[in-house]
Amino acid sequence: MKKTINKKSILFVLLAVLLIVSVVACGSKKDTAKTGKALKDGVLDLATNAHFPPYEFYDGEDIVGIDPEIAQAVADYLGYEFKIHDMEFNNIIASIESGKVDGGIAGMTVTEERLESVNFSDSYATGIQSIIVTQDSDIKGLDNLADKIIGTQLGTTGYIYAIDDFGEENVLAFDKGADAVVALNSGKVNAVIIDNEPAKSFVEANENLKVLETDYLVEDYAIALTKTNDALLEEVNEALTALGESGELQKIIDKYIKAE
Ligand code: ARG
Repeated sequence: MKKTINKKSILFVLLAVLLIVSVVACGSKKDTAKTGKALKDGVLDLATNAHFPPYEFYDGEDIVGIDPEIAQAVADYLGYEFKIHDMEFNNIIASIESGKVDGGIAGMTVTEERLESVNFSDSYATGIQSIIVTQDSDIKGLDNLADKIIGTQLGTTGYIYAIDDFGEENVLAFDKGADAVVALNSGKVNAVIIDNEPAKSFVEANENLKVLETDYLVEDYAIALTKTNDALLEEVNEALTALGESGELQKIIDKYIKAE
Protein backbone atom coordinates (compact mmCIF):
# COMPACT_ATOMS: atom_id res chain seq x y z
CA MET A 1 0.00 0.00 0.00
CA LYS A 2 2.66 2.48 1.00
CA LYS A 3 4.58 1.72 -2.19
CA THR A 4 1.58 2.61 -4.42
CA ILE A 5 1.07 5.97 -2.73
CA ASN A 6 4.73 6.83 -3.30
CA LYS A 7 4.54 6.02 -6.97
CA LYS A 8 1.36 8.05 -7.32
CA SER A 9 2.83 11.08 -5.61
CA ILE A 10 5.99 10.94 -7.68
CA LEU A 11 3.84 10.85 -10.80
CA PHE A 12 1.83 13.79 -9.50
CA VAL A 13 4.93 15.84 -8.82
CA LEU A 14 6.31 14.99 -12.26
CA LEU A 15 3.08 16.06 -13.95
CA ALA A 16 2.99 19.28 -11.98
CA VAL A 17 6.59 20.09 -12.95
CA LEU A 18 5.80 19.34 -16.59
CA LEU A 19 2.79 21.64 -16.49
CA ILE A 20 4.78 24.49 -14.94
CA VAL A 21 7.62 24.07 -17.44
CA SER A 22 5.28 24.14 -20.43
CA VAL A 23 3.41 27.19 -19.14
CA VAL A 24 6.68 29.05 -18.56
CA ALA A 25 7.97 28.00 -21.99
CA CYS A 26 4.83 29.29 -23.71
CA GLY A 27 5.00 32.54 -21.78
CA SER A 28 8.59 33.25 -22.69
CA LYS A 29 8.02 32.36 -26.34
CA LYS A 30 5.31 34.99 -26.51
CA ASP A 31 7.68 37.60 -25.10
CA THR A 32 10.51 37.05 -27.59
CA ALA A 33 8.82 35.99 -30.83
CA LYS A 34 5.95 38.06 -32.17
CA THR A 35 3.52 36.06 -34.17
CA GLY A 36 2.97 37.76 -37.49
CA LYS A 37 -0.60 37.95 -38.75
CA ALA A 38 -0.16 39.64 -42.11
CA LEU A 39 0.70 36.45 -44.03
CA LYS A 40 -2.19 34.03 -43.90
CA ASP A 41 -0.13 31.03 -45.10
CA GLY A 42 2.53 31.74 -42.46
CA VAL A 43 5.30 31.73 -45.09
CA LEU A 44 7.40 34.76 -46.03
CA ASP A 45 8.25 34.19 -49.72
CA LEU A 46 10.97 36.53 -50.97
CA ALA A 47 12.64 36.78 -54.36
CA THR A 48 16.33 37.43 -54.84
CA ASN A 49 19.00 37.28 -57.54
CA ALA A 50 21.70 35.15 -55.95
CA HIS A 51 24.66 36.47 -57.94
CA PHE A 52 25.42 39.53 -55.86
CA PRO A 53 28.03 38.70 -53.22
CA PRO A 54 28.20 39.33 -50.30
CA TYR A 55 24.48 40.14 -50.21
CA GLU A 56 23.40 36.90 -51.91
CA PHE A 57 25.33 34.12 -53.58
CA TYR A 58 25.41 30.36 -53.87
CA ASP A 59 27.35 28.19 -51.49
CA GLY A 60 26.85 24.84 -53.23
CA GLU A 61 23.08 24.47 -53.48
CA ASP A 62 22.37 27.00 -50.74
CA ILE A 63 21.67 30.68 -51.19
CA VAL A 64 23.65 32.48 -48.49
CA GLY A 65 24.71 36.03 -47.65
CA ILE A 66 23.58 39.13 -45.80
CA ASP A 67 20.11 39.29 -47.37
CA PRO A 68 18.95 35.68 -46.78
CA GLU A 69 20.24 35.86 -43.20
CA ILE A 70 18.44 39.13 -42.50
CA ALA A 71 15.25 37.79 -44.09
CA GLN A 72 15.50 34.59 -42.03
CA ALA A 73 15.92 36.67 -38.86
CA VAL A 74 12.89 38.81 -39.78
CA ALA A 75 10.81 35.68 -40.47
CA ASP A 76 11.95 34.06 -37.21
CA TYR A 77 11.09 37.22 -35.28
CA LEU A 78 7.60 37.28 -36.77
CA GLY A 79 7.11 33.53 -36.44
CA TYR A 80 6.93 32.90 -40.21
CA GLU A 81 8.58 30.22 -42.25
CA PHE A 82 11.00 31.75 -44.80
CA LYS A 83 11.44 30.73 -48.44
CA ILE A 84 13.80 32.36 -50.92
CA HIS A 85 13.30 32.25 -54.71
CA ASP A 86 16.18 32.90 -57.08
CA MET A 87 15.32 34.76 -60.30
CA GLU A 88 16.64 37.40 -62.70
CA PHE A 89 16.97 40.72 -60.89
CA ASN A 90 14.92 42.37 -63.60
CA ASN A 91 11.94 40.06 -62.84
CA ILE A 92 11.75 40.61 -59.08
CA ILE A 93 9.39 43.59 -59.04
CA ALA A 94 7.00 42.01 -61.59
CA SER A 95 6.91 38.83 -59.48
CA ILE A 96 5.97 40.85 -56.42
CA GLU A 97 3.28 42.70 -58.35
CA SER A 98 1.78 39.48 -59.72
CA GLY A 99 1.66 37.98 -56.21
CA LYS A 100 4.09 35.15 -56.98
CA VAL A 101 6.16 36.26 -53.98
CA ASP A 102 5.44 38.53 -51.01
CA GLY A 103 8.52 40.64 -51.65
CA GLY A 104 12.17 40.71 -52.59
CA ILE A 105 15.49 41.07 -50.80
CA ALA A 106 18.32 41.61 -53.25
CA GLY A 107 20.49 44.55 -52.24
CA MET A 108 17.64 46.48 -53.77
CA THR A 109 17.87 50.24 -53.86
CA VAL A 110 14.88 52.34 -52.87
CA THR A 111 13.87 54.51 -55.84
CA GLU A 112 10.88 56.74 -56.50
CA GLU A 113 10.00 54.73 -59.59
CA ARG A 114 10.03 51.38 -57.77
CA LEU A 115 7.91 52.89 -54.99
CA GLU A 116 5.13 53.13 -57.54
CA SER A 117 5.10 49.32 -57.80
CA VAL A 118 6.15 48.07 -54.35
CA ASN A 119 6.39 49.07 -50.71
CA PHE A 120 9.88 49.40 -49.26
CA SER A 121 10.80 48.52 -45.69
CA ASP A 122 13.09 50.74 -43.63
CA SER A 123 16.60 50.63 -45.02
CA TYR A 124 19.02 48.04 -43.59
CA ALA A 125 22.21 48.95 -45.52
CA THR A 126 23.79 51.48 -47.88
CA GLY A 127 25.31 50.85 -51.28
CA ILE A 128 27.51 53.02 -53.49
CA GLN A 129 27.71 52.64 -57.27
CA SER A 130 31.32 51.89 -58.19
CA ILE A 131 33.25 51.50 -61.43
CA ILE A 132 35.31 48.39 -62.20
CA VAL A 133 38.09 48.78 -64.79
CA THR A 134 41.17 46.82 -65.82
CA GLN A 135 44.40 47.62 -63.95
CA ASP A 136 45.91 49.28 -67.03
CA SER A 137 42.78 51.30 -67.91
CA ASP A 138 42.97 55.00 -68.68
CA ILE A 139 39.60 55.43 -66.95
CA LYS A 140 40.27 57.16 -63.63
CA GLY A 141 36.75 58.17 -62.76
CA LEU A 142 33.31 59.13 -64.00
CA ASP A 143 34.67 61.95 -66.15
CA ASN A 144 36.49 59.46 -68.36
CA LEU A 145 33.42 57.33 -69.13
CA ALA A 146 32.02 59.38 -72.00
CA ASP A 147 32.20 57.39 -75.26
CA LYS A 148 33.29 54.22 -73.45
CA ILE A 149 31.24 51.02 -73.44
CA ILE A 150 29.82 50.41 -69.98
CA GLY A 151 28.67 47.02 -68.71
CA THR A 152 25.85 46.81 -66.15
CA GLN A 153 23.31 44.37 -64.75
CA LEU A 154 19.92 44.67 -66.43
CA GLY A 155 17.30 46.54 -64.43
CA THR A 156 19.67 47.75 -61.72
CA THR A 157 20.12 51.36 -60.71
CA GLY A 158 23.64 51.18 -62.19
CA TYR A 159 22.03 50.34 -65.54
CA ILE A 160 19.35 53.03 -65.28
CA TYR A 161 21.80 55.79 -64.35
CA ALA A 162 24.39 54.70 -66.91
CA ILE A 163 21.78 54.98 -69.66
CA ASP A 164 20.69 58.40 -68.40
CA ASP A 165 24.20 59.78 -68.10
CA PHE A 166 26.08 58.10 -70.97
CA GLY A 167 23.37 57.13 -73.48
CA GLU A 168 21.78 53.81 -74.29
CA GLU A 169 24.18 53.19 -77.18
CA ASN A 170 27.10 53.12 -74.73
CA VAL A 171 25.60 50.71 -72.21
CA LEU A 172 25.46 46.92 -72.38
CA ALA A 173 23.13 45.12 -69.96
CA PHE A 174 23.80 41.60 -68.68
CA ASP A 175 21.52 39.27 -66.71
CA LYS A 176 24.17 38.85 -64.03
CA GLY A 177 26.74 41.32 -62.72
CA ALA A 178 29.35 38.58 -63.05
CA ASP A 179 28.66 38.37 -66.81
CA ALA A 180 29.43 42.08 -67.12
CA VAL A 181 32.75 41.41 -65.38
CA VAL A 182 33.53 38.59 -67.83
CA ALA A 183 32.82 41.05 -70.68
CA LEU A 184 35.24 43.52 -69.09
CA ASN A 185 37.93 40.84 -68.93
CA SER A 186 37.46 40.01 -72.58
CA GLY A 187 37.50 43.66 -73.67
CA LYS A 188 33.86 43.72 -74.76
CA VAL A 189 33.18 46.59 -72.34
CA ASN A 190 35.59 49.21 -70.96
CA ALA A 191 34.08 49.53 -67.50
CA VAL A 192 31.39 48.00 -65.29
CA ILE A 193 29.12 50.08 -63.07
CA ILE A 194 27.90 48.05 -60.10
CA ASP A 195 27.33 48.33 -56.34
CA ASN A 196 30.54 48.61 -54.28
CA GLU A 197 30.43 45.39 -52.26
CA PRO A 198 29.78 43.05 -55.22
CA ALA A 199 32.41 45.09 -57.12
CA LYS A 200 34.96 44.28 -54.41
CA SER A 201 34.03 40.58 -54.44
CA PHE A 202 34.32 40.33 -58.23
CA VAL A 203 37.66 42.13 -58.29
CA GLU A 204 39.05 39.93 -55.52
CA ALA A 205 38.72 37.01 -57.90
CA ASN A 206 40.28 38.90 -60.86
CA GLU A 207 43.86 40.15 -60.42
CA ASN A 208 43.80 42.35 -63.51
CA LEU A 209 40.76 44.36 -62.37
CA LYS A 210 40.36 47.21 -59.89
CA VAL A 211 37.51 49.17 -58.32
CA LEU A 212 37.27 52.94 -58.65
CA GLU A 213 35.22 54.07 -55.69
CA THR A 214 33.03 56.98 -56.65
CA ASP A 215 30.48 59.02 -54.85
CA TYR A 216 28.40 58.63 -58.01
CA LEU A 217 25.41 57.41 -56.09
CA VAL A 218 24.92 56.53 -52.47
CA GLU A 219 21.84 54.37 -52.14
CA ASP A 220 19.64 52.81 -49.47
CA TYR A 221 18.96 49.08 -49.60
CA ALA A 222 15.59 47.89 -48.35
CA ILE A 223 13.25 44.92 -48.55
CA ALA A 224 10.67 45.35 -51.32
CA LEU A 225 7.18 44.18 -50.31
CA THR A 226 3.85 43.80 -52.03
CA LYS A 227 1.80 46.96 -52.12
CA THR A 228 -1.33 44.91 -51.35
CA ASN A 229 -0.35 44.13 -47.74
CA ASP A 230 0.47 47.18 -45.62
CA ALA A 231 0.26 45.05 -42.46
CA LEU A 232 3.25 43.05 -43.73
CA LEU A 233 5.23 46.28 -44.21
CA GLU A 234 4.49 47.25 -40.62
CA GLU A 235 5.48 43.84 -39.29
CA VAL A 236 8.72 43.73 -41.28
CA ASN A 237 9.67 47.23 -40.10
CA GLU A 238 8.92 46.25 -36.51
CA ALA A 239 11.17 43.20 -36.91
CA LEU A 240 13.97 45.26 -38.51
CA THR A 241 13.81 47.80 -35.69
CA ALA A 242 14.01 45.07 -33.05
CA LEU A 243 16.87 43.29 -34.86
CA GLY A 244 18.67 46.62 -35.25
CA GLU A 245 18.33 47.42 -31.57
CA SER A 246 19.51 43.98 -30.47
CA GLY A 247 22.60 44.27 -32.69
CA GLU A 248 21.57 41.24 -34.74
CA LEU A 249 21.57 43.14 -38.08
CA GLN A 250 25.08 44.48 -37.56
CA LYS A 251 26.26 41.01 -36.55
CA ILE A 252 25.00 39.59 -39.85
CA ILE A 253 26.58 42.40 -41.90
CA ASP A 254 29.92 42.09 -40.05
CA LYS A 255 29.97 38.37 -40.78
CA TYR A 256 30.14 39.08 -44.52
CA ILE A 257 31.78 42.53 -44.75
CA LYS A 258 35.07 42.78 -42.93
CA ALA A 259 35.95 46.28 -41.73
CA GLU A 260 38.88 47.73 -43.68
N1 ARG B 1 21.30 48.12 -55.83
C1 ARG B 1 21.05 47.89 -57.21
C2 ARG B 1 19.59 48.05 -57.53
O1 ARG B 1 18.77 47.99 -56.68
C3 ARG B 1 21.53 46.53 -57.67
C4 ARG B 1 20.95 45.35 -56.98
C5 ARG B 1 21.27 44.05 -57.65
N2 ARG B 1 20.95 42.95 -56.81
C6 ARG B 1 21.13 41.66 -57.13
N3 ARG B 1 20.83 40.75 -56.24
N4 ARG B 1 21.56 41.33 -58.29
O2 ARG B 1 19.21 48.22 -58.65
